[in-house]
Amino acid sequence: MSVHKKEIKRITTHVLQAMKARGEKIAMLTGYDYSMARILDAAGIDIILVGDSASNVMAGHETTLPITLDHMIYHASSVIRAVKRALVVVDLPFGHYQGNSKVALESTIRIMKEAGAHAVKLEGGAEIGESIKRILSAGVPVMGHLGLTPQSIYKFGTYTVRAKEEEEAKKLIEDALLLEELGCFAIVLEKIPATLTAEVSAKLTIPTIGIGGGKHADGQVLVTHDMLGITKDFKPRFLRRYLELFETIQGAVGDYIDDVKAGDFPNDDEQY
Ligand code: KIV
Repeated sequence: MSVHKKEIKRITTHVLQAMKARGEKIAMLTGYDYSMARILDAAGIDIILVGDSASNVMAGHETTLPITLDHMIYHASSVIRAVKRALVVVDLPFGHYQGNSKVALESTIRIMKEAGAHAVKLEGGAEIGESIKRILSAGVPVMGHLGLTPQSIYKFGTYTVRAKEEEEAKKLIEDALLLEELGCFAIVLEKIPATLTAEVSAKLTIPTIGIGGGKHADGQVLVTHDMLGITKDFKPRFLRRYLELFETIQGAVGDYIDDVKAGDFPNDDEQY
């Protein structure tokens, strides 16, 4: 078992920048609730992303689109109460920054004030530049997200690898450079070819965090429920499962049911 308790007391955007500069990889996982966030933080995770993937894994929706700002604030405040060391980044939900930078800032301020978050993440490039600028001007750190951006799933039509063609790859590089120039502190690169991740990561001074983007990113992120095997049928090539918790929990619950039915739980020592 490996627990990464480092000497750093708090992970900040400056700490992440220094990690990139010295070639130290950044580890990020999603978190949506207090109990799991306590475990992730105790293990030494660098960043906890309160992802809008909560819409899928916590609420059972097919896409990330239905989750609301109130839901995100609820999840984020639960995570924040658990965390002593990690940087907590919160996704701005669909509909809260596309096309209206004032709404983007108002939504961000709610996340920062009501949840106590440390930073926000937005999906997209040049088209959301105004929203990014406005949020940054209020002093809130912004993480970008390029490549497969799940809030645009109905535009893409599928969850397959993005930017395989030259034109899309060129636009992604331009967007990445723009996000750095605007002042983003890091960029998630989702499901793009490893060679493109390598190229973008070499061009940027801010860290890239890959998910399905190969080994050349400055850090990696996975959805916690996927890497722990709590979700069952989602098995993309990029996902490494560290546990098969669905079966483990199912087995434990089965044992509990058997014990209750057999009158074996509670026993004499488990009662008052
Ligand atoms: O919402 C999420 O979990 C994400 C990660 C996949 C990066 O955005």
